[in-house]
Amino acid sequence: MAATTMILLLLYCCFCNVFFLPSSAASSDDFLQCLTRSIPAEQVYTQSSSAFMSVLTSSVQNPEFVTNATVRPLCIIAASGVSHVQAAVRCGRRNGVRLRVRSGGHDYEGLSYRSVRAEVFAVLDLARMRAVRVRAGDATAWVDSGATLGELYYAIGTVNPGFAFPGGACSTVGVGGYLSGGGIGLMMRKFGIGADNVLDAMIVNADGELLDRGRMGEDLFWAIRGGGGESFGVVVSWRLKLSMVPSTVTVFNIAKTTDNGAAAAALAKWETLVLEPFLPELTIRVVLQGRTALFQSLYLGGCSRLAATMRAYFPELGMTAADCHELTWLRAMAFISLGSADAAPEGMLRRTNNLGTYVKSKSDYVRRPMGAAAWDALFSRWLAGNGNGILILEPHGGVVGSVVPDFVTPYPHRAGVLYNIQYGVFWWGDADGAAARRWLEALYAAMEAAVSSNPREAFANYRDLDIGENVVGGDGVTTYESARAWGERYFMGNFRRLAAVKGKVDPGDYFRNEQSIPPLLLPY
Ligand code: FDA
Repeated sequence: MAATTMILLLLYCCFCNVFFLPSSAASSDDFLQCLTRSIPAEQVYTQSSSAFMSVLTSSVQNPEFVTNATVRPLCIIAASGVSHVQAAVRCGRRNGVRLRVRSGGHDYEGLSYRSVRAEVFAVLDLARMRAVRVRAGDATAWVDSGATLGELYYAIGTVNPGFAFPGGACSTVGVGGYLSGGGIGLMMRKFGIGADNVLDAMIVNADGELLDRGRMGEDLFWAIRGGGGESFGVVVSWRLKLSMVPSTVTVFNIAKTTDNGAAAAALAKWETLVLEPFLPELTIRVVLQGRTALFQSLYLGGCSRLAATMRAYFPELGMTAADCHELTWLRAMAFISLGSADAAPEGMLRRTNNLGTYVKSKSDYVRRPMGAAAWDALFSRWLAGNGNGILILEPHGGVVGSVVPDFVTPYPHRAGVLYNIQYGVFWWGDADGAAARRWLEALYAAMEAAVSSNPREAFANYRDLDIGENVVGGDGVTTYESARAWGERYFMGNFRRLAAVKGKVDPGDYFRNEQSIPPLLLPY
């Protein structure tokens, strides 16, 4: 029997376990009525509430997803406790209303607060669930999903300047989505990705039960640490292992322009250093825009050693001690996030959102150095003529590159990866988004020969619906085959295992969006 036939048969046989959602219009009213039994009315914003739009847009990062044409939620549930989350899930399942879970709202396709298809759904907003409890004694912290990375960094760094967490560069990103997608950043070469550093978690599953690591089991615990948001349940909090860093770390920003091929020469050298047994304490990411490559570095040590290392290994950058800013780790994160050595860490507590700038992003992984000529061509053909395009290169190697792909967490882009590329293009107001998108698509097509292939890898946290959208079958469940297009690019060999976990914990596919893990029902 063909494998697909076998899978279909198993799906059919397992229908008895599948929970069917009723779909009558009346169920929306019943859903809202059900919520009022457990959640204060003032924390449920229906479309007729005067505050509906301001709550909906409170963490939106791209105005494209809050136009009049956007499919909007029936209501927004501003949960402030686990019991609210449980009630939302139970009421939703009972009445056929799905939930979009939102922590920080930074999803690149807005899937935490909008639906691409016309369907009835509610937003479960966790922004009020944002406590961070640091336990200095064993260097761990419990953080609620609705906290931002900035709030997490601030809480950790103010308890002990020697504590740190390997998070991302942008302080407004939500912990819930960041860890659910793996979470890359400037310390992954030393400590692994964010999700590699999760010790425990509390999740509300599709039955509305609250489970810790022991109760959810190791398969589900593996899956939620990077297997993508929304798919498995609502993670309400995470227990993190904190890393130890020196009391002083060093950051620098050095720009190289295309004049005399300086930017291309520096990039060509930079990409060969990533996999050398090079200091994992040193990360240099690169932002390319216009005619400039900006090298942004975080070094977990002092300036003199960094300057000597750079002289020895990377003289093309011309870095000297004058470029150094020696700071506490917390201030260094403020420097990286807010762009100034004088930036106060308190600035990372601001939950700013962006309703002015449209953006479209895509991602790639590079496993072979591109070389100076290719970098030169990238600048001259693509970037120099479009100042609204941007590439961010995040070096891998070190610890993130040495972890066995299917072992610790679902993030598969490990051994042999030199760096990740995030492509972005911006536009504003009446500008032509179609032209910006065409530029990005053409650049992405032109990069094909230089980047990973079979599959062309992509990063789950840089969600991109261009690479595929789920199809829901006649049984109301996402089809496994439809999700492979994007799933194997985000998760490679781990995709099937993620689908098998989904098949066990949510066979009826209650938690889903356009790129959620489909349930694969296996005979064990
Ligand atoms: P949001 O709330 O939009 O959720 C994202 C997805 O996760 C949605 O599908 C949502 O339903 C689901 N989800 C959210 N909370 C959940 C929960 N508690 N339980 C279950 N599912 C949940 N990434 C990175 O790795 N390193 C980086 O440096 C950056 N930098 C960066 C900068 C900027 C400006 C942006 C806009 C984005 C990034 N990212 C990033 C990408 C970012 O990590 C990614 O978009 C995360 O999903 C955002 O998490 P939020 O909680 O903010 O998003």
